[in-house]
Amino acid sequence: MRDIPLGFATRAIHFGHDPQSAQGALNPPVHMTSTFAFDTVEHGAEMFAGERQGYIYSRVGNPTLDVLERRLAALEGAEAGLATASGMGAITSLLWTLLSPGDELIADETLYGCTFAYLNHGLAKFGITVTHVDLTNPENLARAITPATRVVFFETPANPNMRLVDIAAVSAIAHGQGSHEQGVKVVVDNTYATPYLTRPITLGADFVVHSATKYLGGHGDLLAGMVLGPAEDLMQVRFFGLKDMTGAVMAPLTAMLVLRGLKTLEVRMERHCATALTLARALEAHPAVERVFYPGLESFPQYDLAKRQMARPGGIIAFELNGGLAAGKAMMDGLDLILRAVSLGDTESLIQHPASMTHSTYTPEERAEHGITDGLIRLSVGLETPDDLMDDLMRALDRVGPARQAA
Ligand SMILES: Cc1ncc(COP(=O)(O)O)c(C=O)c1O
Repeated sequence: MRDIPLGFATRAIHFGHDPQSAQGALNPPVHMTSTFAFDTVEHGAEMFAGERQGYIYSRVGNPTLDVLERRLAALEGAEAGLATASGMGAITSLLWTLLSPGDELIADETLYGCTFAYLNHGLAKFGITVTHVDLTNPENLARAITPATRVVFFETPANPNMRLVDIAAVSAIAHGQGSHEQGVKVVVDNTYATPYLTRPITLGADFVVHSATKYLGGHGDLLAGMVLGPAEDLMQVRFFGLKDMTGAVMAPLTAMLVLRGLKTLEVRMERHCATALTLARALEAHPAVERVFYPGLESFPQYDLAKRQMARPGGIIAFELNGGLAAGKAMMDGLDLILRAVSLGDTESLIQHPASMTHSTYTPEERAEHGITDGLIRLSVGLETPDDLMDDLMRALDRVGPARQAA
């Protein structure tokens, strides 16, 4: 391909596959194979010894996954990528590789429920210290880092309350202060933003993880994860964290579906973001709504950071109603079009109640401590006709009252 830098959508559609290498096929072949045959025993032995390039077994590598790994790396500005069976497979494969007993991981206060459970109820059982720090103020990290700190982990925007973390500021502090001989690694869960809105590695982070189940796949028909980062480190994640510790390998057919999702990521994100902004403004103006957390609203506490760090404010809105949890449940049950379901980033609009669903892995005390209120509602804005979504949402809100005044 030509030498001048290509745009995001062009890379998302073309990068890493030359049709002429596959009999002219527009799409990369799906290599549905668990293993790969060697010419001779010697050939196999050389592959295992790392003296020869090639494929051995699909838990270690597969040509279809390869295309996806290289393509997403090109979109994130990373050296290399690694495909996994789910977002949790990506997070666990990476962290089992980076951490050893006696090490400390510092995480932001707010995390997706199963990530929180893996860190606090999982890793902590194996002699790894997990410390939560409010990373919305990067200076808190400077005070919290100890000689044992190996990893700083956060989501931005965070699931479910949308708080943002300044990636460049946190990375500068982590890298400047790492007293451990191997330094402090910064890991960003970029599931909410996607590389179309934010590219953490270009801002100084070491690794990105994704639940590709969400926007990257984009159609709610698969589970997938990705890790992006330096090629040498990702080799270790591939040959230890993924191959030996989790075995959370992506299936070739799933890789093909994620590749298909990536082709439309830019146009989908544009539409998700435009509709979400319109709905967020309408929610903010509705008398039944107490608070809206959406990075595109001037009222959002980190509005300036959102403008700096995100190309657009994203497709997820969090909000609370005046009537708290009871009103929230009544409103969600009153929706006809927007589906009551967990997950996000799909073509369908999905609404859910974090405290009883995605974040029920926190104890009630942990939720209170980590800023996940009982009344919080999370809406993933889909790609339906925006007016239909607006009607559905406003009708459900009017029913739990007080209704809007007629214009
Ligand atoms: C921010 C975030 N990270 C990670 C995950 C886990 O991804 P998966 O469900 O693909 O394992 C999720 C799932 O909701 C998520 O929202």
